Amino acid sequence: MRASSGATMRTFFAIAVALLSLQLWKAKYGLKNAIFTTPDLPEGYYHAGNYLTQCSTLKDEQNGLLKHCEDATFWEMHDDAGKLTERKVILSCDAGRREWNTVMGPLKNPEPHGSLWLYTPQTSKTVQISLEEYPAGHDFHPLGIEVYPSYGGNASYLYVVNHARQKTVIEQFLVDPAKPTLAKYLQTLSHPLFISPNSVALTSPTSFFVTNDHLFTRRLPILGSFVPLVETLLTLPLGFVSHVSLDGRAESEQSTISHSVVAPFISFSNGVAVSPQGSQLAVASTTVGKVYIYNITKSPSPSVTHVHTIQLPFSVDNLAWTSPSEIVVAGHPHFPSLLKFIARKREYAPSWVVAIQINIDGSPKATPNETKTFDIHAPLSLNTKVPPPPAPYTIETLFQSDGSVFSTSTTGLHDPLTGELYISGLYAEDGAMICKPEVNQ
Ligand SMILES: *[C@@H]1O[C@H](CO)[C@@H](O)[C@H](O)[C@H]1NC(C)=O
Ligand SMILES: *[C@@H]1O[C@H](CO)[C@@H](O)[C@H](O)[C@H]1NC(C)=O
Ligand SMILES: *[C@@H]1O[C@H](CO)[C@@H](O)[C@H](O)[C@H]1NC(C)=O
Repeated sequence: MRASSGATMRTFFAIAVALLSLQLWKAKYGLKNAIFTTPDLPEGYYHAGNYLTQCSTLKDEQNGLLKHCEDATFWEMHDDAGKLTERKVILSCDAGRREWNTVMGPLKNPEPHGSLWLYTPQTSKTVQISLEEYPAGHDFHPLGIEVYPSYGGNASYLYVVNHARQKTVIEQFLVDPAKPTLAKYLQTLSHPLFISPNSVALTSPTSFFVTNDHLFTRRLPILGSFVPLVETLLTLPLGFVSHVSLDGRAESEQSTISHSVVAPFISFSNGVAVSPQGSQLAVASTTVGKVYIYNITKSPSPSVTHVHTIQLPFSVDNLAWTSPSEIVVAGHPHFPSLLKFIARKREYAPSWVVAIQINIDGSPKATPNETKTFDIHAPLSLNTKVPPPPAPYTIETLFQSDGSVFSTSTTGLHDPLTGELYISGLYAEDGAMICKPEVNQ
């Protein structure tokens, strides 16, 4: 009996080691580029002009609270005829992130609230959004955010992932273009499978995809101090994406939630975005440095089918799919530098923002014979780090920095109307940056 249970154990370990090796092999570009190599990044590079003259940070001149911004999202304004007239930007920031970060730690002080900000391109003003009727004593640590477009001036539902002290929940607010710096609190959404929500992507005013970055979280007693780290470092595919819909809710009642896991087994699933047509989903897998593209099937209930994988040379954070032909991806080119920066052992940590361009008519721009011809303008080209993406995609750097110009990029937004690029920074002292294209270039 002893011999056979020994053999069973050995078989078990052999299988575990084989699976882990396979997983680490899949993660090879992510690990090699973002952990084991220090990238040779320039001080700054902006694809549509000179970063010194075209890029500036968004600041809270009064109180310095606009910092450590994890996410940014466009709030689209459509007129009565349905024509898009303006994209405002909403930012989610948390000045206390160095004391409270449920993804990377530490969990020291959840008291100071994070904040939401509104940037209006027409006035170039950034103003804090006040939360109306927000429950007293309820923590506010905003992470992923998304807001439904406004049509003909109507109000929009805004969803905010909130890393509250006991568990992560999703807050629903109402924002009205007539009073754009007020967000009226509606309800707090909670579910047993909201284990570690990170990012949301809306599929209607009352339904969305949500990523869960880890299965084991830092809030777990005892285990929380090391198991989530093991999950991250071994790139264990324990994150997942769910679809959530809320039923029609009468005034001041709590919605009931329909929840289904649509894409399980993703390593550190982080950013999520739905294509403007609503037909495809993009999901960032941070530790393996990949973006997965899925087709969405809407009925009977939403499900997804994997179609493509795009490899990038950094720890992919958030995604924004702001035009049918472009997904903007931001991330962390060197994880050890990020950790040192958080621990104040470095002055900055690098940023990289790229566009995945989708050649809609289908003919591939880069054939395998031309592997070194993509991203030819960036000082540190993607083509020195990763293989070309599959057709119909190409990849191009929009912004990169060793961190001295802008640190810790988490989200990039590219406005197809104006060409303006917005970047938020997880631990950036000035929480976000805007770069405006040089005219006549
Ligand atoms: C605003 O109008 C759009 C388009 O008609 C609609 O889908 C949306 O539900 C409306 N928003 C709210 C909060 O009622
Ligand atoms: C995804 O959708 C596109 C467009 O509808 C279709 O051409 C393609 O075959 C689909 N791929 C898969 C794997 O379902
Ligand atoms: C790549 O293309 C060039 C010219 O089109 C051709 O001469 C060359 O043989 C091709 N190389 C490979 C590896 O297919």
